[in-house]
Amino acid sequence: MPLNRLAVQSLRNLNAVDIDLSDRINLFYGQNGSGKTSVLEAVSVLGQGRSFRSHKLKTLVGNDKDHFTVFGHVVDASRQTPIGVMRSKKGDSLFKVDGKLVSAASSLAECLPLQVINAQTFQLLDGSPKQRRQFIDWLVFHVEHDFFIAWKGLQRCLKHRNSLLRRDRIAAAELAPWDRELCLLAEKIDTFRSQSLQLFIEAFEALVVEFVQLDDLKLQYLRGWDKDRPLADVLAEGLDRDCRQGYTSVGPHRADLRITVGGQLAADILSRGQMKLLVCALRIAQGYVFSQQTQRRCLYLIDDLPAELDSDYQAIMARWLVALNCQVLITGVDRLVLEAPWGEYPEISKSVFHVEHGNVVAADKASTTKTQ
Ligand SMILES: Nc1ncnc2c1ncn2[C@@H]1O[C@H](COP(=O)(O)OP(=O)(O)OP(=O)(O)O)[C@@H](O)[C@H]1O
Ligand SMILES: [Mg+2]
Repeated sequence: MPLNRLAVQSLRNLNAVDIDLSDRINLFYGQNGSGKTSVLEAVSVLGQGRSFRSHKLKTLVGNDKDHFTVFGHVVDASRQTPIGVMRSKKGDSLFKVDGKLVSAASSLAECLPLQVINAQTFQLLDGSPKQRRQFIDWLVFHVEHDFFIAWKGLQRCLKHRNSLLRRDRIAAAELAPWDRELCLLAEKIDTFRSQSLQLFIEAFEALVVEFVQLDDLKLQYLRGWDKDRPLADVLAEGLDRDCRQGYTSVGPHRADLRITVGGQLAADILSRGQMKLLVCALRIAQGYVFSQQTQRRCLYLIDDLPAELDSDYQAIMARWLVALNCQVLITGVDRLVLEAPWGEYPEISKSVFHVEHGNVVAADKASTTKTQ
């Protein structure tokens, strides 16, 4: 789902950017502090309602401004969908897809599926289980239509159950309806996740050998409670502990993806470089399964690729991104270094942009860019 136009107002140091993007490779180069990451943040705001860099929305609004706007056109085979986001320092927000107001960021995500690769995403391996759950659920959300309803139901159910657990005294009868609902939703969510992960693991195993040579690399899905026992039994057994702690300690909200090499956690034994390559392979495999399952393509935002990977691995990344046939926005400080991995693919449409003091100018095709 390429984004063919991006217009940004008052987001960080980007004051008035309006550019036409290539539906394949887009390279943004410029000095430190020029606004490259901000361009990618603007796209992530469009596809997620928020930035990948910070949850503090206020910091995104340009200094001395009270709101920012991001606008774009998402192109499908048959049509062009306008999509826009406005957020203010006061906390107001407005999301629009195809001319209609939408209330949830999930509507933006459906319209513009994104994968982000930056220094933080490399924490997928050594960060908290929440990050790996979000990783798993990205694919499930896009592939299984009923997943999001079940997931929202789970959040609601946990909120009620946990607030009951925090009361001084609770009767088993009060918890029973929430436990029943939790078990039903857990079953659904677990089934969706296992099905998507099965497809994902197959794609990942075929791909990872090219990225990084690791003997006995294994991905194991942990569903959040004992794999051999019904959740109802595990909940009943853990009730005293849950009451003491004031929250539900087992269930799909505790799922994780265990990534091991030779039986040990990858995060404990891999070098920083090996971890980065592994995370790139994980994200590329997701885009591959997404395309296969939905006949759509996701957009990759890759922040400062040359700083993260050496030239051989950038070349491997380029090959996979070309094979995925998806749209990519990549940043880097040096133009030549940024362009180098793409030299082998002259047939692929490529746009290069120079970012300077918050202005974004097409480096070779000045006529396609309107910078104010
Ligand atoms: N709310 C804001 N209003 C105005 N400027 C901001 C705001 N937040 C950050 N900035 C500034 O915007 C500029 C662009 O930051 P950005 O992170 O996009 O730069 P960059 O080109 O990615 O730099 P680097 O190469 O160091 O990663 C920086 O100078 C930063 O200080
Ligand atoms: Mg940056």
